Amino acid sequence: MSALGFGCWAIGGEWQSADGQPLGWGKVDDEESVRAVHRALDLGVTFFDTADVYGTGHSERVLGRALGKRRADVVVATKWGNVFDAPARTLTGADDSPSYARRALTASLRRLGTDYVDLYQLHLSDAEPEQAAQLRDVCEEFVKEGIVRAYAWSTDDPARAAVFAEGEHCAAVQHALNVLQDAPDMLALCEESELASINRSPLAMGLLTGKRRGSMEAGDIRSRPPAWLQGFGDGSGADPEWLARVDALREVLTGDGRTLAQGALAWLWARSPRTVPIPGFRSVAQAEENAGAMAKGPLTPGQLAEIDRLLGR
Ligand SMILES: NC(=O)c1ccc[n+]([C@@H]2O[C@H](COP(=O)([O-])OP(=O)(O)OC[C@H]3O[C@@H](n4cnc5c(N)ncnc54)[C@H](OP(=O)(O)O)[C@@H]3O)[C@@H](O)[C@H]2O)c1
Repeated sequence: MSALGFGCWAIGGEWQSADGQPLGWGKVDDEESVRAVHRALDLGVTFFDTADVYGTGHSERVLGRALGKRRADVVVATKWGNVFDAPARTLTGADDSPSYARRALTASLRRLGTDYVDLYQLHLSDAEPEQAAQLRDVCEEFVKEGIVRAYAWSTDDPARAAVFAEGEHCAAVQHALNVLQDAPDMLALCEESELASINRSPLAMGLLTGKRRGSMEAGDIRSRPPAWLQGFGDGSGADPEWLARVDALREVLTGDGRTLAQGALAWLWARSPRTVPIPGFRSVAQAEENAGAMAKGPLTPGQLAEIDRLLGR
């Protein structure tokens, strides 16, 4: 698996919560998404992260179509736990039952056009640990049946991740990590339990790419940020305090001829040997820039220390 994965949330297109909160990243062009996946493959990216709920099934379909015959060459991760009305493109609830896990997996396999998932991830970040222990055991059954290779929990809570880590084929935890949002306790667990640390929002949902945003497109989650989404204030654009921190880091992140986005990915590789960032993308240009970070490798320990100093950590 490549040191970098590609996150397929944005390429699902628009979808929403039952009360109209946008949950996608605005409109996308499926043909451009397919070209971007092809470009990523050509540049050595062999890991793709999606979820059944992204675009209420659309992201899985677009990824499956783009991979086509090259599916066996890559690691495909998807997620389950959210319930949705696909025609209405609406999230309707959550289901943490073992029987739903099996139904969701069957549907994901069909949409992805494959007969196994490399990494199956529980998408309910705050599910009850007792219930999750049952789901972990269900995942072990999926592994025995050959329809799942390994599994993970997508959660920011190390205590929850530890419940999944007890399973023999639990291989990773997916959690938020970027140069502005460190997660030392989760990284310690990954070290201790020999898990991969799959890093969502490695570019702080776009803030670490250096773009300055005015008002965002109406269908973009960042235009009406839910409580958990940090860095975008009330939706009128990027939070000035976050942008100031990005500005403070610009020189060190771009020091060795990297772009800002590449520097943010390089920080993650320097932070721990277990990290696998999964930047989102919506175009060939973004795919090229993000994949290009691999050739430049991690930041140096000195650059890492300088960043901690600049951020007062
Ligand atoms: N609960 C969960 O399990 C969970 C939650 C969040 C994310 N994830 C996963 O993590 C992945 C990545 O996280 P994320 O989507 O939150 O955010 P991210 O990777 O931090 O930011 C991605 C966004 O930044 C912009 N971007 C990407 N590359 C760029 C470049 N080279 N130059 C300029 N802009 C660029 C794009 O949006 P614009 O072009 O619109 O700016 C892109 O959609 C997701 O796709 C998903 O697979 C999982």
